[in-house]
Amino acid sequence: MPNTVLIGAQWGDEGKGKVIDVMTEEVDLVVRYQGGNNAGHTVEIGDEKYVLHLIPSGILHDGKLCIIGNGVVVDPSALKKEIEDLEERKFQMQGRLFVSDRAHVVFPYHRELDIAREKPSAEGETIGTTKRGIGPAYGDKSSRRGLRMGDMLDTQVFLELVKARIEENNRILVALGAEALDASAVLSPLREAAEFLRPYIVDTLPMLNDAVAAGKSILFEGAQGTMLDIDFGTYPYVTSSNATAGGACTGSGVPPHRIDRVVAVVKAYTTRVGEGPFPTELEDDVGAHLSREGHEFGATTGRPRRCGWFDAVVARYSAALNGADYWAITKLDVLDQLETIKICVAYECDGERVENMPGDVRRFGRCVPIYEEVPGWKSSTTTVTRYEDLPANARAYVERLSELTGVAVGLLSVGPQRSSTLRIAL
Ligand code: GDP
Ligand code: IMO
Ligand code: MG
Repeated sequence: MPNTVLIGAQWGDEGKGKVIDVMTEEVDLVVRYQGGNNAGHTVEIGDEKYVLHLIPSGILHDGKLCIIGNGVVVDPSALKKEIEDLEERKFQMQGRLFVSDRAHVVFPYHRELDIAREKPSAEGETIGTTKRGIGPAYGDKSSRRGLRMGDMLDTQVFLELVKARIEENNRILVALGAEALDASAVLSPLREAAEFLRPYIVDTLPMLNDAVAAGKSILFEGAQGTMLDIDFGTYPYVTSSNATAGGACTGSGVPPHRIDRVVAVVKAYTTRVGEGPFPTELEDDVGAHLSREGHEFGATTGRPRRCGWFDAVVARYSAALNGADYWAITKLDVLDQLETIKICVAYECDGERVENMPGDVRRFGRCVPIYEEVPGWKSSTTTVTRYEDLPANARAYVERLSELTGVAVGLLSVGPQRSSTLRIAL
């Protein structure tokens, strides 16, 4: 398979984990390149359900190599736990999972700062973060106050450096009205995690260079989604990394011309977790229907996801930004029982028709969807395995999404299981 970047085209939770799992069959390596354990990627195999936060979803295929790239921020205790859980479920981890020595560490003070800034009483608006410390960790990376996974290899020096940072961050925490951390309570689990993770921490660049030189195929696993991208999302209601396709290069070290194609995962409708504008949001019975049928609860925090119609303005913007070659459209089955379905084709804002995503979040917040309504198909699609066997109205819906966005459909997902997947061009 060509080297492929897989990204989310909306606000995350598009079903990337499932699509990665399906596509891993044909690749040699899977690489995560941004985000941290704010991500929750679900894979269902038979009766087993796995939710991966930091480890690439490709780990569920025996023999495939998985890399956590330099662009990821790693909470050592969370990674340790995720490895242990998978080991308990009989997956071989050592020799298959590698963590870049350049990936930055998420510390408990990052989590506490995230929590303190998310208090409704805190200055500024809340973002509705996952409270995993992601923003403060990337903040430290940019302000050159971060520590990296490679620093953990010299445990003694590492713990000394962390201790100094705890003292500094305690002053900030107290100023924010939060409690100071007890350094010894922080250092002891960190020491344990550092020892545990030692065999996994390597320079991943030679591995990736060799894989590229040998013509092996690499799948880049994006986390979050385009609308949560730090540069192109609905800032400030975004995450702190580049969730768009460009992040695959900076977050792994593989150069752009070694990437062959981009697959964008998009839900047949839209969801969002956390704060921020969402023009097609439905706060009615239809929204409740989508939430119920789609089991729309966060895989990381369990929060209910806000639900709404498919937004072709968002999808077109994502397709252009990421250079999407194909859509992987997921959760078509969630629409199975609807009488009619709406598609947002443009917005109305400040008295004019808007076809392109506004850069200003306040303007975006004033956008009202202009809908096109299409008939539903009122029958189950979840056991369909061939595109031509889908109900005619379901095919018409999929083709309309493709037409409105100018991107071909490569894969269709009609259920959480591997078997509920229609491979069209992927
Ligand atoms: P990710 O973060 O993009 O990997 O997505 P999540 O795992 O957070 O959320 C997607 C949810 O939808 C998971 O519970 C998946 O098991 C489920 N899912 C994925 N594809 C489909 C599909 O085609 N139909 C249905 N009904 N569920 C799906
Ligand atoms: P996956 O990879 C959906 C959202 C949070 C919040 C904003 C900032 O499973 O698609 P953060 O903790 O990153 O600082 O929170 O981003 N968010 C996600 N929403 N899916 C995710 O990941 C998300 N990761 C972060 O809800 O609005
Ligand atoms: Mg998710």
